[in-house]
Amino acid sequence: MPVTPDFRFRRLRKSAVMRDLVRENHLSADDLIYPVFVQEGISEPVEVSSMPGVFRYPEAQLAQVVGDVWAKGVKSIILFGVSEHKDACGSDTWSADGLMARMIKTAKAAEPNMLVISDNCFCEYTDHGHCGVVANDDVDNDPTLANLQKQCLVAAQAGVDMIAPSGMMDGMIAAIREVLDDNGYGHVPVMSYSTKFASAFYGPFRDAVDSNFKGTRETYQLDPANGRQALAESMQDELEGADILMVKPGLAYLDMLAAIRANSERPLAVYHVSGEYAMVKAAANAGVIDEKAIVLETMMAFKRAGADLVITYYALDVAGWLAE
Ligand code: PBG
Repeated sequence: MPVTPDFRFRRLRKSAVMRDLVRENHLSADDLIYPVFVQEGISEPVEVSSMPGVFRYPEAQLAQVVGDVWAKGVKSIILFGVSEHKDACGSDTWSADGLMARMIKTAKAAEPNMLVISDNCFCEYTDHGHCGVVANDDVDNDPTLANLQKQCLVAAQAGVDMIAPSGMMDGMIAAIREVLDDNGYGHVPVMSYSTKFASAFYGPFRDAVDSNFKGTRETYQLDPANGRQALAESMQDELEGADILMVKPGLAYLDMLAAIRANSERPLAVYHVSGEYAMVKAAANAGVIDEKAIVLETMMAFKRAGADLVITYYALDVAGWLAE
């Protein structure tokens, strides 16, 4: 190829139309998933102190919230329950009348076209706050898988559109796929929190779910130092049958998005987590950044790195900004 030492990159940046023409990545409200928190035992929405604009809603308001989210152009939600019926193993999650099942039914009834995803874990339903059954000071993997199967079956029976296990147990996708397929729910997809790190960026989420959790999740979530292992976990989940893979948190782990993108043909999600939201909000409220520009740039960085979809507390704002 002839060398063109004076090649001008700026030729394609000259006009807005030209820039639009050559833009490599695009962001749409279709790409967004909005997390919704429902808390038992409250009658008014409670704002999460470290996350201005994010609320825990009473169950009686969920239908209204789902309608509002849909009206704002966001078509997928992921449900988190804040339970008052906690026990050592999180049994409320596999009760047909439990909070998880009720939230799914209420959300689907409110807006049947809304894509309703359940966060399938135990930490908001156990009295100790761990993501499963505890034995010898650690989460016991296989008994937790058995409970997760019961939980996911109940979620499917309640009408959930997608299962999203976030507990980082080994073998969780195979276990869930088996119980769904054996019970007539072979059509229900699983979005795995496949590459999830033990991260300080979840701090405000613990606040959001009123967690009194004081321990560490380092025996089940990934060490932030480990990129190869993190890729292997997503590849393992793909082999077990995950329909969608995920990286969590987002900005500090763009390398993982790129690595998984290069190694898998599955759709890839990123979770823009509570700490990331809280940092931007705090900086915006202090007047030191342009919130809209920072958030849209962040969303585009996720897409460029390889994400197809983004779970974000900013989903409603982003949908609004894109529609302006
Ligand atoms: C629980 C769960 C967590 C988040 C989603 N599901 C927290 C954790 O693992 O401690 C974090 C979400 C966020 O920080 O926005 N399995």
